[in-house]
Amino acid sequence: MFITFEGTEGAGKSTLIRAVGQALGIPKSRIIITREPGGSRVSESIRSVILNEQMDPWTELFLYEAARAEHMAKTVLPALKSGKTVLCDRFTDSTLAYQAHARGLPWAEVVKLNAAATRGIKPDFTVFMDVDPALGLRRAREHNRFEREGVKFQQKVRRGFLKSMRLDPDRWIRIKAFSGTPDEMAARILSAINKKIDGQGRKKHS
Ligand code: TYD
Repeated sequence: MFITFEGTEGAGKSTLIRAVGQALGIPKSRIIITREPGGSRVSESIRSVILNEQMDPWTELFLYEAARAEHMAKTVLPALKSGKTVLCDRFTDSTLAYQAHARGLPWAEVVKLNAAATRGIKPDFTVFMDVDPALGLRRAREHNRFEREGVKFQQKVRRGFLKSMRLDPDRWIRIKAFSGTPDEMAARILSAINKKIDGQGRKKHS
């Protein structure tokens, strides 16, 4: 299974991902927790350029996609091929929300570049950690250059995620950030995933 986690800043994604990893109840050796941008040696180098330099929005987009292509080749695809479950902190929907919806690059172009970088692999499920952008910004500890763009930018990012969700609702699980302990939220996510899997099974057999 390939599950991605998305959200605006300060939603508590990384804590939740670890809790979901534990709640899955499968051996640690069968789960990979990774992140974008990053998750492989070259992609982590690209990450530090993206997060530390100001650049043209197109350059930013291509760097995210370059980091993604390498992350797919070196980390995600080998793990999925060997039957592992991959939990990824941010993925293609972040590029749609940040670079397309918030920065204003053409959505359709970003869809194409996402498909190229991922070799057409889509997550089975995507968890959207929904937080009020103003609260999230107050909670975020270190401010990267996206966080420094302020609350209006984060609101646009959030609407970008909602757009992705409307376009492909079956894939998404929306959960209100801080609506329980990480373990409680992880349990709710897993039960939502199981319901979706049951529903898909029924659709196939009817
Ligand atoms: P990070 O510190 O990992 O943020 P967070 O903890 O909120 O996930 O920094 C990653 C930043 O990169 C984050 O601000 C979102 C942004 N981003 C994009 O703009 N486009 C993308 O495709 C991805 C994967 C991330």
